[in-house]
This record gives sequence, C-alpha cells and structure tokens, in this order.
Amino acid sequence: MSTGNELARDAATVETHAVDQPDDSVSPATLALIDAYLGDHPGGAERLIPVLHRVQEELGYLPHPVIKAIAERLGISPIQAYGVVSFYHFFTTVPRGRYQLKVCMGTACFVRNANSVLESIRDTIGLEVGGVTKDRLFSLEQVRCLGACGLAPAMMVNSEVHGHLTRTAVRKLLQGLRAKARQKRAAGEADGE
Ligand code: FES
Repeated sequence: MSTGNELARDAATVETHAVDQPDDSVSPATLALIDAYLGDHPGGAERLIPVLHRVQEELGYLPHPVIKAIAERLGISPIQAYGVVSFYHFFTTVPRGRYQLKVCMGTACFVRNANSVLESIRDTIGLEVGGVTKDRLFSLEQVRCLGACGLAPAMMVNSEVHGHLTRTAVRKLLQGLRAKARQKRAAGEADGE
C-alpha cells in the first residue's frame, strides 16, 4: 500500500499533456519485447495485430518508430502497419496510461457527484482530465455515459466498470493499482528483466 509520501512523490511526477516521442529511436527494452514476442510466436505478417496489442499493453500506446520497427520485422511496409493501427479504435498512437481511467460525466453520474470522482483522482495521483502520469501508469479521460447509469457515479478502468464510487473507493482503487504495478515491476527486476 502506498504511503502518503509515496503518493505525494507520485503526484509530482505527473504531466497533463501528451508526451512527445523525442526522436525516431526505439528503446532496447521495447525492441527486446517485440523480438521476444515474435520469437515466442513464430509465423508471418498475421502476427501484426497480436504484437501491436502486446506492445501497447506495455507502453500504453504505439509510438510511430515502434510501429515501423514491428513492420520491418514482419517484412511489411510501415504504411500497411499504420493502416491497421488507424483502422482499429483500440490502438492509439497517443500516449495513454497502462490503466486508462474513463470517468463518466453523463447526467446520471453528474447528479450523483461524478466531480468528486475526478477530485479524488486528482488528490490521489495528481492527474487531470486529458493527462497521463509520467510513469504512464494512468491516463484520464471523461466520457458521456458508460451505459451503466444504475451504478452512478461510475468510471471504467480499461475494460472494467467500477460503480457507486465514493472518494474513498476511488483512492483505494488507485492505490491498489499502483501497488500492483510496483509488485509487478519488483518481480520483473527480481527475474532480471
Ligand atoms: S450517465 Fe454515467 S453511466 Fe450513464
């Protein structure tokens, strides 16, 4: 569980604008991820969508140089790969967090104090609407009705709906996700990743 100090430090690492790709380079870790996935899944260009999924799951989005590197490895043109990325709405070339928070501001949620959900997110991890944390763990959007009005106020975390949210419930949820990410990272480091 995160301490108050840890949360304050995490909040300080937040930026509320898109993160630009500084150059055309792809990190060695990302190349290793791509190569490991393709090594574990032999085949041809039909691996494009699964490998894009795997990389987006890890990075939170698909930077252009990464799409190009994947295309090269699959022996297809970058244009073909970009075409697939732009066709499917679940792919994004804009940075998002590993945990994508979508807070509903539709009428049912609004009247049940959806603003307090946004406030709790801001107070817990310092994130504003449209932002992404620097560690790319969380990003935040607001949406109009998740189709779960009976659960108002509600938000989605990736594909999961969380309802009847209170400030405390939101704080605990975010702290739990952050702790889970830390554990995963620690386990990866222990495995020498
Ligand atoms: S208004 Fe929020 S789920 Fe419908």
